[in-house]
Amino acid sequence: MINVLKLFVYFLSCTFLPYSKGTKCGEACHRTDPDKINIHLVPHTHDDVGWLKTVDQYYYGSNKGHAPFGVQYILDSVVSELQKNTIRRFVYVESAYFWRWWEELDENDKEMVKNLINEGRLEFLHGGWCMSDEATPHYTAMIDQMTLGLKFLNSTFGECGRPSVSWQIDPFGHSSEVAIEFAEMGFDALFLGRIDHEDHKARKNDKNMEVVWRPDPTLGEAGDLFVSVLYNLYTAPAGFCFDTYCSDEPIMDNKKFHGYNIDEKIKKFEDQMEQYGAAYKAKNILVTMGSDFTYSVAASWFKNIDKLIKYTNSRSKTLNLLYSTPSCYVKAVNSLNLTWSTKEDDDFFPYGSDEHSYWTGYFTSRPTLKYMVYKANNILQATKQLATVIGNKFEDEEFEFKRALAIAQHHDGVSGTEKQHVADDYAVYLEEGINAGKKIFIETYKTLYGVDYPDDQHFGNLRNISQFNITEDNQNFVITLYNPLSRIISTPIKFPVQQSFHYKIYHCNGTTVEYDLIPISANVLKLPGRHSNATHDIIFIAKDLPPLGITNYYIQVTTENLSNAALTAVSNNNSIITLSNGNITLEFNKTDGLLQSVTKNGKTWPFYQNFYIYNAAKGYNYNADTRASGAYIFRPIEIDPKPVSLTANITQYHGINVFEVHQTFSEWLSQIVRIYKDSVDIEFEWLIDSIPITDWTGIELVTRYTTDVNSNSTFYTDSNGRRWMKRIRNKRKYWNLTITEPVASNYYPLTTSICLRDNTKQVTVITDRPEGGTSMHDGELELMLHRRLLYDDDKGVVEPLDETAFGKGLSVRGTHIVQINELTTSDVEHRLKAVESAYHPVPVFAKTLFHLNEWITNYNRTFSLLLKELPPNIHILTLERWQKNQLLLRLEHIFQANENRDYAHPVDINIKEIFKFFGIYKIQELTLAANLEKEKLKRLKWNFERQNNTSISSKLINGTITLLPMQIKTFLLFIEEKDAQN
Ligand SMILES: *[C@@H]1O[C@H](CO)[C@@H](O)[C@H](O)[C@H]1NC(C)=O
Ligand SMILES: *[C@@H]1O[C@H](CO)[C@@H](O)[C@H](O)[C@H]1NC(C)=O
Ligand SMILES: [Zn+2]
Repeated sequence: MINVLKLFVYFLSCTFLPYSKGTKCGEACHRTDPDKINIHLVPHTHDDVGWLKTVDQYYYGSNKGHAPFGVQYILDSVVSELQKNTIRRFVYVESAYFWRWWEELDENDKEMVKNLINEGRLEFLHGGWCMSDEATPHYTAMIDQMTLGLKFLNSTFGECGRPSVSWQIDPFGHSSEVAIEFAEMGFDALFLGRIDHEDHKARKNDKNMEVVWRPDPTLGEAGDLFVSVLYNLYTAPAGFCFDTYCSDEPIMDNKKFHGYNIDEKIKKFEDQMEQYGAAYKAKNILVTMGSDFTYSVAASWFKNIDKLIKYTNSRSKTLNLLYSTPSCYVKAVNSLNLTWSTKEDDDFFPYGSDEHSYWTGYFTSRPTLKYMVYKANNILQATKQLATVIGNKFEDEEFEFKRALAIAQHHDGVSGTEKQHVADDYAVYLEEGINAGKKIFIETYKTLYGVDYPDDQHFGNLRNISQFNITEDNQNFVITLYNPLSRIISTPIKFPVQQSFHYKIYHCNGTTVEYDLIPISANVLKLPGRHSNATHDIIFIAKDLPPLGITNYYIQVTTENLSNAALTAVSNNNSIITLSNGNITLEFNKTDGLLQSVTKNGKTWPFYQNFYIYNAAKGYNYNADTRASGAYIFRPIEIDPKPVSLTANITQYHGINVFEVHQTFSEWLSQIVRIYKDSVDIEFEWLIDSIPITDWTGIELVTRYTTDVNSNSTFYTDSNGRRWMKRIRNKRKYWNLTITEPVASNYYPLTTSICLRDNTKQVTVITDRPEGGTSMHDGELELMLHRRLLYDDDKGVVEPLDETAFGKGLSVRGTHIVQINELTTSDVEHRLKAVESAYHPVPVFAKTLFHLNEWITNYNRTFSLLLKELPPNIHILTLERWQKNQLLLRLEHIFQANENRDYAHPVDINIKEIFKFFGIYKIQELTLAANLEKEKLKRLKWNFERQNNTSISSKLINGTITLLPMQIKTFLLFIEEKDAQN
């Protein structure tokens, strides 16, 4: 997104240049001139997959009040203009739109478009379903959305539909993980529009706008990526926006008419190219000719660019203008064989567009949408795995679900920077996707257990506020639990019930399961919009779930007088309140109700946690100083946030499986601190029942965990759920940071984790959704939970981020898991937990008419798709149906090099010995997005100073592959089905 351009006017004159006429994609680049500066004019349109309008409103061009554009007309207009002149080129990025448009074309038009693509006149760039955000998507969702787009392009257009260049020209900062994924998808280069203003300035001055980025040097060449930062975001040079919606003057070249402006125009263009040229090493400059939703009337661009090329080339001694594409530009630059500097072990976060505009608010904006996207992704990963059991029968449902997740990854989707009605539309798509996925769950369970298996199954999506009619209102119901992790796991299951009933829980093998019945906190009971008769939550531990496996439980209301009925609050007269499960002990100070220490393995560490408020800057954004905090920007008016309260009221419950302290900080803020039997995780389940607004001041709410870790200004945040990125307070690796926003400029995105380390231990916080976080003081971790803002930050969305529901500010509930791990032990816990955030076991609930005995007789079975669990460092990242009798498999090493003594080492896996239900007769390795055989991939080579030249390759031998730390490998499996019911 960018704001509408306000631009100026100028002029021109004539001759024709011969062009090499492209006939085949890949050979369609126009010739460059080695004696001149080659100006690669790249006609493009930036089509947000939802922002001010929903994706479909943008596609059709409806809801004109919010924006007049319609992508269908843009594509119609572009292909018709491309037909008129073979020298013209156009690039297209977002497959979500191209797919919509393709669906509606007739056969003749499809043929015509295929020809344009085969001749290289229309070229796909990037090719993902959308141009994803980079701070907030989980890597699984990012890989999926690229795979979805590239699969459509490959299956529709074949090799000429395969983009060779990636294009992330609008996202608000750039992550290491995304770059590595692009490298492993086989892209030759990545283009960026937005990097920090100080970084941009320094790179411009040093001719360093293009570098080889090595986010993880341990991966060797496979993870290297040539990166080009665009000069002018992604817009046309000043005065050369030829769109009908731009105010710049066209080129007026007929001397018989008034307004002749060739001389002026060319001079203005040459002047700007001189500035552009000074920033780049190669005598080639990429000039983006387009912007947001441009080319509604493509003729207005192409006619003027035709003339600009004609007149400039005939007059200029230094410039050679050509229609080009980013891939042609990259080939031209690569052929010069220059030597490039590198950017290693670093990313492009955070993004400050000026000294008071740090785009670090969106890391947290719209926390409930973010959570829904993550929940839905979790269910999608499970759905794809389950769908492998039932053939391609529910392909359409699977595709629908994938599309819903894919559009939500857009850089104005999960990022939280869209208008409210657009956020609502993503949520509706996600809900439809989840419902489509549910059909696959049901069909799979019927296939495995038999046709009488209950088909009225429900996920219970409101269980996080203890509301669910299936468990509240039925005497007999069953829970079918699917574990999408490739290892055995035990997990707590929680659901709401009415206290007047007594329950018994049975595993399907007939054994009873112990549970706790805990009163629902008053803070939950009073949530607005909650409709429920539940008074208590049941919590039990589902033990030893098989890998990629299914288990079920039967729950029955009983007339027995149960001794373990509802827990009551423990009363305590000591000055310290102790919560312990034997492995870990938490102490709360009774005077203030706050956590004060944690004991584990016989050692006690001070540990404090509380909630704080930053007051948001207000303003009308006339200049940098009057910038308001908004959907994108975080701009607090103070350095030290104020505690919401210095004390909390507390109640404690001690159960069989679970131990809880309920804290109430204020009328609107409460928390449950929880530990489970046999676990070392500390859960902080916070509940914000509407941020109150007084005095027209926006509020940004954070939680702080204060420890004695001697962190020396350093903390770590994960990159899209994978690698740790080292962050140093008030510092950047590649330039001298000027501190103008002392808090906001120290905020970084975290997708699942943030941690602190010293020589003896690591404290990690694992989240259930992406959040912004920092460490403003040594030993302290700060995470932003929610934002309620009353001013817009003038970055285009034109809406203050003031989410409301049921007549007040939006309520949010979420969980942090905190782990304290001593470095002397080989602790694997936090990695395993982080993977769980996308692969958490998924229960479905259904009422049943079967009696317990019938149930056990019929359904006493558990299933696993695997022959045995995989080692803890290896994870099945993807298992899904591909074409008929083909499966897509991605295996992933979840540890980072050197992070763990016992697990961060190469692992051999025999793919033929993983699956139970499929015989594999052929295995083919693919690139990461599964659109090319790995052995056919040829990436361009770049010269740069190599500090560490590990070149790693491991080949498949007899079905066995070696996975190195953090490596992902993608395979196509050719299968024969075995009997699924064995
Ligand atoms: C490219 O440059 C490198 C290093 O300067 C040199 O070793 C190599 O021979 C050159 N390759 C070509 C094709 O010119
Ligand atoms: C790409 O599409 C072609 C044509 O449909 C197909 O034969 C090929 O297998 C696809 N490639 C991959 C890697 O799926
Ligand atoms: Zn955009």
